[in-house]
Parts: sequence; C-alpha cells; structure tokens
Amino acid sequence: MTIIVTGGAGFIGSNFIFHMLDAHPDYRIVCLDKLTYAGNLSTLASVMDKPNFRFVKLDICDREGVYKLFEEEHPDIIVNFAAESHVDRSIENPEVFLQTNILGTQVLMDACRKYGITRYHQVSTDEVYGDLPLDRPDLFFTEETPIHTSSPYSASKASADLLVLAYHRTYGLPVTISRCSNNYGPYHFPEKLIPLTIANCLNDKPLPVYGKGENVRDWLYVEDHCRAIDLIIYKGRVGEIYNVGGHNEMRNIDIVKLICQKLGKPESLITYVTDRKGHDMRYAIDPTKIHNELGWLPETKFADGIEKTIDWYLANRDWWETIISGEYQNYYEKMYGNR
Ligand code: NAD
Ligand code: DAU
Repeated sequence: MTIIVTGGAGFIGSNFIFHMLDAHPDYRIVCLDKLTYAGNLSTLASVMDKPNFRFVKLDICDREGVYKLFEEEHPDIIVNFAAESHVDRSIENPEVFLQTNILGTQVLMDACRKYGITRYHQVSTDEVYGDLPLDRPDLFFTEETPIHTSSPYSASKASADLLVLAYHRTYGLPVTISRCSNNYGPYHFPEKLIPLTIANCLNDKPLPVYGKGENVRDWLYVEDHCRAIDLIIYKGRVGEIYNVGGHNEMRNIDIVKLICQKLGKPESLITYVTDRKGHDMRYAIDPTKIHNELGWLPETKFADGIEKTIDWYLANRDWWETIISGEYQNYYEKMYGNR
C-alpha cells in the first residue's frame, strides 16, 4: 500500500505521517510538499531515513511534476492536506488560496483519474458551513448543513469540496471528504491562536485577542483527527462526507486565559485588538455520522491535550523560535503592528 500525503510538512499532515508510519509499518508513505512558509522539513527529521518514507518537494499545482510522481510511485491512496490554511492571510491575499486549494486539488484528482487509485481523500474543514449564532447552543454542523462560507479561505475549501464531489459523480472517482473542527497539538504553526499564545506568553509579549474574545471554536487534539482520517480511508463509504469534532467548544478568551494560567503569566498580557473581518462567531461539529458508521470517538480530553501541547512547545523551543525569528517577523508586524 502506497499513500501520497500532500502537505505533510505542515501541522496536521506531519502528525498524520507519524500516525500512519506508526500504525501501519508495512505502508509506504510519500510526502509531497511545496515547503511554503508553513512547511518545515525539520518537522519530518525523525522519519526522513525510514526506508518506507520518501519526501518530495513539489507544488500540487505542478501538473507535470505530479504526473511524474504518480508514474514513479503508483500510489493506491492520496490524502490531500496541502493548502493555504490561515484565514487572516486569505483576507490579505486571496489569490494563492484559490490556486492551491482549488486548482491544486483539481491537478491531484486529474492525476488520480489518469493513473487510477483506490481512494482520493480530501481534508476539508468545518469552516465550509459558515458559523452558528452564540445564542443557539442547540445548533451543530451536520453533513447536511448547507455550505455558507465567510472568508476567502473557507470559500476556497468549499469550492474544492464541490469539485471533489463533482469528480465522483461525473468520473466515478472514489473520493471521501472529512470536515474537521479546529485542531491543536505539536507542530502547530505559531500564527494560529493556541501556538501564538503559548509562544507570546513564553516571550512575555502581548497576547492579541480579536474583538471581545467571545468567538467559539470546537477544539480537537490533532492525533484524534489523524485517527479519523485513517478510519475514513480504510472504512469510509465512497462519495461520503464525514464531520470530525469532539464537542469541545471554548471561547477564545477562555483559551488564552487558560494558557496564561498554565504558564504562570499575568492576564495583563492580554490585548484586545481590532476584530478579524467577517469573523465567524461559533463552530460546533455534530460527529454522529463518523461515530455511528466508523466507531470513531476522540480519545484526548482537552485538559490533557492542552497540557501535552504546552509541554511540547516548552520542550521544542528551537522549532518555533527558528520560525518566529525569520520571515514570520514581517508577517507579525504587518498583521499586529497597528492593530
Ligand atoms: P499548514 O498550513 O500547517 O500546512 C499546510 C502544508 O501544505 C504546508 O506544509 C505547506 O508547505 C503545504 N502546501 C501549501 N501549499 C502547497 C502547494 N501548492 N503544494 C504542495 N504543498 C503545499 O496547514 P494545517 O493546519 O496542517 O492544515 C492541513 C489541512 O487541514 C488543510 O487542508 C486545512 O484546510 C485542513 N484543516 C485544518 C484544520 C486546523 O485546525 N489546522 C482544521 C480542519 C481542516
Ligand atoms: O475550524 C477549522 C479551521 O481552524 C481550519 O480550517 C483553519 O485552517 C485553521 O486555521 C483554523 O481556523 P481559525 O480561524 O478558527 O483558527 P485561528 O487559530 O486563526 O483562530 C482561532 C480563533 O482565535 C478565531 O476566532 C480568531 C481568534 N484569534 C486568532 C489569532 C491568530 C485571536 O483572537 N487572536 C489571534 O492572534
């Protein structure tokens, strides 16, 4: 069994590669990644020398390169994590989101059609459903919730999902889609709320909270997401969408205060800044389908997951300090300098 994992040098893709090499030592895993600002080869250092692992630096939009890789590897399964993933960046510069997230997906699926595969899995997001109101805690996203996107990022992910479903209906491509809630854990790029808050706390820097900090996200430990995808590619029904989430809704401000408390830092570091444009209020996944059909349940409680995550950032300072000392400084100044 050969699996091509795209975007495997990023946060969730790398954790998925570790999971798969561990859970299925007989599989060959090929990581295809362009190494954008979010991709980090050092993340994959521990698996680089494994005989059943290969890393290929490649853009998923590079049709010729992707076809060549399929000719070399004859993959059985493609799991597509590769994407521009940060909502704030999509608001500043939507173009690359449309290129990678939509057109890149098309190139991968065209390769699947040309060379034949047993499964194409698209890693999507709960953001395709838009948001839920704060005063309706009874509402959740199901797989039937209409697509209603807010940001260029979520619009690009939703477009890709529609294209994936179209390739299934029109060409019979054996596809599945997962739509997961917010992940957290090791190797999370420090532009996102949890790792940014941990890094800033450790450097005694202000902790930017958008708006009033009342927006709610549904946090899932990354390993639980990886297990869900492993199950879907193994047992999920072709042509189906599976929502993935662990019923762990938290307000942003409560997450930031919790991290302050865990690291012994004062809440006076919290700085309320101008809100994100079009900021989604609340995400909340109903995971009934994946639970009933595939038996998936989250295994890591938030109280344990956040401890493990903070410990990882404390033990791996080099990893994130290298990132925040480079080009990231320009991004940070642009996004937060005058906010
Ligand atoms: P990330 O930004 O950490 O990593 C993205 C990876 O994709 C990087 O390694 C980057 O180099 C690579 N990449 C980007 N453009 C590429 C291209 N054109 N060709 C090849 N590689 C390219 O993202 P993440 O948080 O790990 O998210 C992975 C996937 O999961 C994305 O599709 C995202 O939409 C989805 N998702 C993320 C979350 C979350 O909470 N982070 C939740 C649900 C779904
Ligand atoms: O729901 C899944 C999505 O989760 C994924 O599809 C995206 O790829 C992933 O980036 C994430 O999107 P969010 O926009 O929810 O994550 P982010 O960490 O950027 O923000 C989480 C919340 O925290 C959001 O309400 C905005 C807020 N925030 C974020 C940052 C970076 C702040 O208040 N301050 C910040 O500095």
